[in-house]
Amino acid sequence: MKFFLDTADLDEIKEAASWGALAGVTTNPTLYSRIGGKLDDFYNHIERICDIVDGPVSAESVAMTRDEIVRDGRELARIAPNVVVKVPTMVEGLAACRTLADEGIRVNMTLCFTVPQAILAARAGARYISPFVGRFDDISENGLAQLEDVVTAINNYDYTENTVNGEQIEIIAASIRSANHVTQAALMGADIATVPFNVLKKMIQHPLTDRGLESFLKDWEKVKNA
Ligand code: G3P
Repeated sequence: MKFFLDTADLDEIKEAASWGALAGVTTNPTLYSRIGGKLDDFYNHIERICDIVDGPVSAESVAMTRDEIVRDGRELARIAPNVVVKVPTMVEGLAACRTLADEGIRVNMTLCFTVPQAILAARAGARYISPFVGRFDDISENGLAQLEDVVTAINNYDYTENTVNGEQIEIIAASIRSANHVTQAALMGADIATVPFNVLKKMIQHPLTDRGLESFLKDWEKVKNA
């Protein structure tokens, strides 16, 4: 499994990149607004992220028609070669995905919740599909079970004839709220988890690691004084 950071915060991205395990970044309009992002700085901000991250950086179009999404997608893709255009899973998004993929532009189909949505996204040329986990949990449904169905269904077929350069589709477990979401997503074979920085920090922690380290340090003092 690869890890993407789900944020638009440059400090978080720099910090996570310094840990050596970061494979990409996903952003969305909410995350950009959370850092006080301004419309006229959006493209520059995506460029700054691309400069830090050696991997795919998803930047979302907020347009509602296929022509506008395609126009956004072309502009976003011009920012850097690692930009992936994030497009909502809806009719206009599917049509735009097909056009962008045919032009060699990689698309991440977002706001995906069901197997039929995921299969349609795959057939429309998506390079990444992002099933949301936490938002199902928010409405008291089982987000992990939905993710597992998407992983199984997509892996039942070969979509490489539909994708840019025949690349393998990857499933991004999105809307991840806990380290347990990551554990379960990895066990079911999701290719990528995109995680908020607070979840990434929790993923590296365990009380037994802390306790073990504490006793090693104490015993090393004894060795030094022996
Ligand atoms: O990248 C989109 C997704 O991860 C959003 O998560 O927490 O807003 O449901 P959340």
